[in-house]
Amino acid sequence: MRVGIIGAMKEEIEYFLKQGTSFTEEKKAHLTLYKGSWHEHEVVITRCGVGKVNAAVTTQILIDLYNVEAILFTGVAGALAPSLEVGDLVVSTACIEHDLDASPLGFKRGEVPMFNGPSTFPADEKLVSLSYEAAKDLNVSAVMKGIVLSGDQFIADWDQVNELREMFEGACVEMEGAAVGHAAMVNNVPFVILRSISDKANGEAAGSFTTFVEESAERSAKIVEQMLSRM
Ligand code: ADE
Repeated sequence: MRVGIIGAMKEEIEYFLKQGTSFTEEKKAHLTLYKGSWHEHEVVITRCGVGKVNAAVTTQILIDLYNVEAILFTGVAGALAPSLEVGDLVVSTACIEHDLDASPLGFKRGEVPMFNGPSTFPADEKLVSLSYEAAKDLNVSAVMKGIVLSGDQFIADWDQVNELREMFEGACVEMEGAAVGHAAMVNNVPFVILRSISDKANGEAAGSFTTFVEESAERSAKIVEQMLSRM
């Protein structure tokens, strides 16, 4: 299978590049794309950069130029669900663009206005089960299937955590997943988002993120590897 693997930051794709597989490098737009064969799949790995636009552009490039048949996003997130601790894993059942707000026009928060499709982008059920099982078998402390919220904001405020939790029932918050999901959905390409918790999106989020980003990013990447070996 041809699989696209995306992380937003270097910490989120570093693990793959350290595995001794020889990847060929190609450049397109702002991306360096690492192509190679890994666990009997053709993989294209890239760092998309932070934010929804970078993530959407990257997804379209992987689909159009690399003909990927599935997209796996790996990285870190801030927890929204009260039970989640740093190091736990969220597997997306669906994603929502939480900062999309045309409410003065009568649209719900997170609703894509005048769009011929849903505003909650469902992840592929098979990829969800595969990643959930892979995480369980790797003994990740806690694995949760849930809704991943994405916005062009680093959330570091308890009131916002409560609002996002209540409004969207989000499990975690990050800055790319829903853009990947949106772009993948309009192209009919299956996707899943894996996010290891780096912080609780509260007043201590910045410090926690800085401390745990590497460790959490690697945990998520290892689950992607385990998934690939089972796909
Ligand atoms: N990625 C990791 N932690 C995050 C947070 N608190 N807000 C947005 N994106 C994040």
